[in-house]
Amino acid sequence: MLSKNLFKSITAGAIVLGLGFSLAYAAADDQIKARQAEMKANGKAIGALVAIIKGEASYDAAVVKASLDAMATADAAAGEAKAWDASSMEGATVETWAKPEIWAEGSDIGAKYQAWVDARAALAATTDEAGFKAAFPALGAACQSCHESFRRPKG
Ligand code: HEC
Repeated sequence: MLSKNLFKSITAGAIVLGLGFSLAYAAADDQIKARQAEMKANGKAIGALVAIIKGEASYDAAVVKASLDAMATADAAAGEAKAWDASSMEGATVETWAKPEIWAEGSDIGAKYQAWVDARAALAATTDEAGFKAAFPALGAACQSCHESFRRPKG
């Protein structure tokens, strides 16, 4: 799972930085691409939920489920690709907007990640529109809170 990889990579980070950074470098491009693909999938998936919140689309439990499934799939794929390992901090040719603070000592990236997992689970447990609308803000907040701490603005 991603969270386990994160914790492992934070401890491994010091070793990677000290000894083998150049070895990890080429693979970092692929890890960064996988991380950005995960986040693009998240952006796409949340769009359908935002449309319901805004009243642009009517509530549909199947749409909610499909969005949450897409996030879970993206999360799992990123874990497989080691998209959050410390070796992905800097690419050779691919630019990342992830802040290096993610991998710094004392980083609460694990907690921010867990908040997102929990918000998805809470939303998945809803069965009607009122429940969905009550649970949605926590998901939006989980995305935003991680971005505020750990993503630098583009451009
Ligand atoms: C645990 C932290 C974390 C969480 C939770 C998180 N993000 Fe991100 N997100 C990032 C980081 C870091 C980046 C920058 C990735 C990079 O450039 O390597 C990013 C980038 C993005 C991007 C830009 C992708 C691109 O390359 O164009 C989008 C869109 C995005 N996130 C959407 C979301 C949405 C929607 C959610 C919630 C459903 C979410 N994110 C949850 C950390 C997070």
